[in-house]
Amino acid sequence: MTDTRKTLLVTSALPYANGPIHLGHLVEYIQTDIWVRFLKMQGHTCYYVCADDAHGTPIMLRAQQEGISPETLIARISKEHQADFSDFSVEFDHFHTTHSDENRELACMIYERLRDAGHISRRTIKQAYDPEKEMFLPDRFIRGECPKCGAADQYGDSCEACGAAYSPTELVNPVSAISGATPIEKESEHYFFKLADFEDMLRDWTRAGHLQKEVANKLDEWFETGLREWDISRDEPYFGFEIPDAPGKYFYVWLDAPIGYLASLKYLCEQKGLDFDSFIKEDSDIEMHHFIGKDIVYFHALFWPAMLKGSGLRTPTSIHTHGFLTVNGEKMSKSRGTFIKARTYLEHLDPEYLRYYFAAKLGCGIDDIDLNMEDFRQRVNSDLVGKVVNIASRCSGFIKKRFAGKLAAEIHRPELLAEFVNAGNGIASAYTDKEYAKAMREIMALADKANQYIDEQKPWVVAKQENNDDELQGICTMGLNLFRILIIYLKPVLPVMAEKTEQFLNVDPFIWEHNQTALLAHEINNFKPLMTRVEQEHINAMIEKSKEDLTATQNTSGDTSGGKSTVSGPLHDDPIADVISIDDFAKVDLRIAKIIKAEHVEGADKLLQLTLDIGGETRNVLAGIKSAYSPEDLEGRYTVMVANLAPRKMRFGISEGMVLAAGPGGKDLFILSPDEGAIPGMKVK
Ligand code: 2FM
Ligand code: ZN
Repeated sequence: MTDTRKTLLVTSALPYANGPIHLGHLVEYIQTDIWVRFLKMQGHTCYYVCADDAHGTPIMLRAQQEGISPETLIARISKEHQADFSDFSVEFDHFHTTHSDENRELACMIYERLRDAGHISRRTIKQAYDPEKEMFLPDRFIRGECPKCGAADQYGDSCEACGAAYSPTELVNPVSAISGATPIEKESEHYFFKLADFEDMLRDWTRAGHLQKEVANKLDEWFETGLREWDISRDEPYFGFEIPDAPGKYFYVWLDAPIGYLASLKYLCEQKGLDFDSFIKEDSDIEMHHFIGKDIVYFHALFWPAMLKGSGLRTPTSIHTHGFLTVNGEKMSKSRGTFIKARTYLEHLDPEYLRYYFAAKLGCGIDDIDLNMEDFRQRVNSDLVGKVVNIASRCSGFIKKRFAGKLAAEIHRPELLAEFVNAGNGIASAYTDKEYAKAMREIMALADKANQYIDEQKPWVVAKQENNDDELQGICTMGLNLFRILIIYLKPVLPVMAEKTEQFLNVDPFIWEHNQTALLAHEINNFKPLMTRVEQEHINAMIEKSKEDLTATQNTSGDTSGGKSTVSGPLHDDPIADVISIDDFAKVDLRIAKIIKAEHVEGADKLLQLTLDIGGETRNVLAGIKSAYSPEDLEGRYTVMVANLAPRKMRFGISEGMVLAAGPGGKDLFILSPDEGAIPGMKVK
């Protein structure tokens, strides 16, 4: 037999070092971790590396906001990220940071090679600049009115109200989200990577089986549009690496992020005495696999292979792209409590529930997957607790009590055991192809057969029969052997349950080929519960806790969507809230308002339409307080409103201000009320 064992480098996308890991991120880490664990069980040599993506403007500003250095911030976040990963059994061989010597060295090397080969150009461009903060503004840090629909307070690149995409110069009344100053246009020289130099190579590469079909098709559209030069430099102040031959200019965070994969590997190689060069040289026979979300395909399937090629290094073996996570069929949302942080989940539920649920939903495509909480509870309870664990608990007691923990010497139903063994190849192929949902279905079909066997054999009846001990021991031994094979097959998904099972069965850590042998005439340990049921109240508590992350001000603005559900988009999750001066505060005109009318808004599940009297003037405000109030509770009441907020066009009409409310959300939301004596229109000081 030839040895088909391989060596592979496997990566998951690097999380930004300025926000917590949430369930959206975990789809990818769990998907990758299952794949790696499976390959390792099959005897392949696999290095799974990751790192924090530590550079860029948001991280620099967040550190400033907290009054600490970026280095201190990223060190703290790295610890939090690693604790989350480890508690979800996402087991990296190494977790590094892009702000490391290894990454600086590799980024400079790749840049210099690209430059020397003529793939870097320079030219002066105009960009929005904050004259107060004295820095260039990334698009996301410019806010203003949408040039298409007029909605207030939109980002510099796209409108959340009407979906229009535009450039920041088109925004009406733009302001810097950092200082509030009006941005000016300023020139600066930028460095560009000439992606078009690689068009032929990329056209071949993207069609050569390194990508899923639907991803390759998407790339065709991008080729049609033309491959534009990529701006890889940013001016100071910036948290990143200074470009070697350009003082005051820094590599754009996305230039050194994928290089961070190699930096993490380099560190690992130094620790383990491995030959780093053998992984990255042009003709390397080691495989390199990247798992990513569908929003960052452009970086990984175009820029990254081109950068590698242009610097004389190997290109990736495969880019494995997945879809986003929705919760209960909708985008994760802070107000609904479905924007769930990894840590919040861990405080309430067993991480292996989620690993199993994601596995049961994941295929090899790029469709979004949905975490439906009711389905989650039912499926985990029925499959893992009701089917799998149940087999062991039905058989172990008799073995322990009646046979001093000793299994029988022979297999009771060899043909049934053979069926379980033979199913292994199909399940292994499903894992290899990332068709985890298929693998889970096949495993659960086997679990049904095992339970059916026990139902038919009725060990609890046999146990009462005289002189039938051999039969009883044979049935229970058979049941436990079937259970053992199921756990071998589930081990990539449920490493903790597998470890508990190894302990219970008193055996060495399972590898895949252990499915070929049976456990006979062997002494096992006491059975301890392997998993408890998912309780609805724990799910509810987790959702409520997730709602608590909301701030009171967010409550008044209708829906506060949780932003993207992949590793990207920390700005959505973490809007900047700089300290404001008393002068800034004085700009907010707070008035006593009398609610003269409150009505439902057709089609809106969160909003109420309020007609407010602010002393001789009435205002229509759409307020996201329907979860806590019915219209009749509100009419006649007094509250406080922001009276000088620019009118905001929402899906259900124009809102002319905002009422103040506090609380975590849902029913616990309280509009602020003044003491008696307040008169509509009075200024709040
Ligand atoms: O989209 C993101 O969250 C990035 N931090 C992913 C980087 S992946 C790789 F290129 F480093
Ligand atoms: Zn718009």
